[in-house]
Amino acid sequence: MADNDIKKGLAGVVADVTAISKVNPETNSLLYRGYPVQELAATQSFEAVAYLLWHGELPSAAQLAEFRAIERAHRALTAEVKTAIDALPLDSHPMDEVRTAVSVIGAIETAGVGNVLDAVGTPEQNLQRSLQLFAALPAIVSYGQRRRRGLEAVESRDDLDYAANFLWLTFGEEPDAVVVDAFNRSMILYAEHSFNASTFTARVITSTLSDMYSAVVGAIGALKGPLHGGANEAVMHVFDEIGSASEVSGWLDTALAEKRKIMGFGHRVYKRGDSRVPTMKAALDTLVAHYDRPDVAELYDTLESEFVSRKGIYPNLDYPSGPAYNLIGYDTLTFTPLFIAARITGWTAHILEQQASNALIRPLSAYNGPDERHIEEYEPDT
Ligand code: CMC
Repeated sequence: MADNDIKKGLAGVVADVTAISKVNPETNSLLYRGYPVQELAATQSFEAVAYLLWHGELPSAAQLAEFRAIERAHRALTAEVKTAIDALPLDSHPMDEVRTAVSVIGAIETAGVGNVLDAVGTPEQNLQRSLQLFAALPAIVSYGQRRRRGLEAVESRDDLDYAANFLWLTFGEEPDAVVVDAFNRSMILYAEHSFNASTFTARVITSTLSDMYSAVVGAIGALKGPLHGGANEAVMHVFDEIGSASEVSGWLDTALAEKRKIMGFGHRVYKRGDSRVPTMKAALDTLVAHYDRPDVAELYDTLESEFVSRKGIYPNLDYPSGPAYNLIGYDTLTFTPLFIAARITGWTAHILEQQASNALIRPLSAYNGPDERHIEEYEPDT
């Protein structure tokens, strides 16, 4: 096999078809089921977008009301999940905490199946499981942050929609409408992005006819890495390291001399800018005004313009979302769990799609190890 037949990192490989989203780097656009993500973020609730990703169409008013009622019914942090989280050290990474919680939910939900041949479940069961995970994650993510701050969990509020309730669960205060709106937009922008590394991981696991929870646990593992979802956490470490706009130039000189990757910049598919960034930057701007933190915008703009002018590499969604979550009051380590709470919609939509039209995902490799040799030539004493 020639070296140029090998697609390192699967770059440029089209692995399957999907009807869920379309990424077009030429037009710098991202469509969910045909709708531009910017239009969805500006007009829809995250619940409506979740419905769209799973069902292919936006809900009618009645469908949305029914969907919201089911979501509200499955918000509670169950005793089993709380016990499992409480058993973890306080300094466990929150991604490990959420991964463990999903694993516990999966073990309970699939208890009694006993037979791997039945593990996958029916399409109806898996749609229901998707909605239940979507509903359960805000309490899990919020409890993680509260427990690290020495606070008890708070109960969900049935009078609040998903985004407002999420913020209530984390902070125990009714959030301002401006904050709810920015948070809702971030959830929609993070919801889905075709065959990114974590979604592809979920599809690989699903393709073996394993269950949905195993696929989601694997996806969380893939998302944790700083080249993928962990980048939103990593962006905040960069902001903290730099400190203020006046330090950007010197910091960049050193970082580039050390050949560091600047977190929140670059993308495997988009080479001329990530289509989601302007919408999230606008949301960040509203938060900057709301919290009166022009210093954040100044650091953001200075790092972006210096890095783009030096390297021609543009910001991705993690660049504006990191400081946005920081302004809202999230701990830096909670940023990537927020990404899980959003991407659970895209992951499960892809799991359902993979289940509906499955082929085992099993690529080939080119061997570059030693030539064939035999045990009789092996001399353990030499
Ligand atoms: N900082 C410095 N140099 C970079 C960066 C960066 N952020 N991104 C790419 N480059 C350089 C890279 O060093 C390489 O240079 P050279 O050709 O001289 O070796 C060139 O650009 C191509 O980079 P690559 O890593 O081969 O490109 P890729 O398509 O494999 O990587 C990426 C994409 C996202 C892994 C990379 O841009 C990166 O590591 N970015 C920082 C982490 C990050 O922000 N990740 C979030 C990704 S998008 C949202 C998400 O998935 O959550």
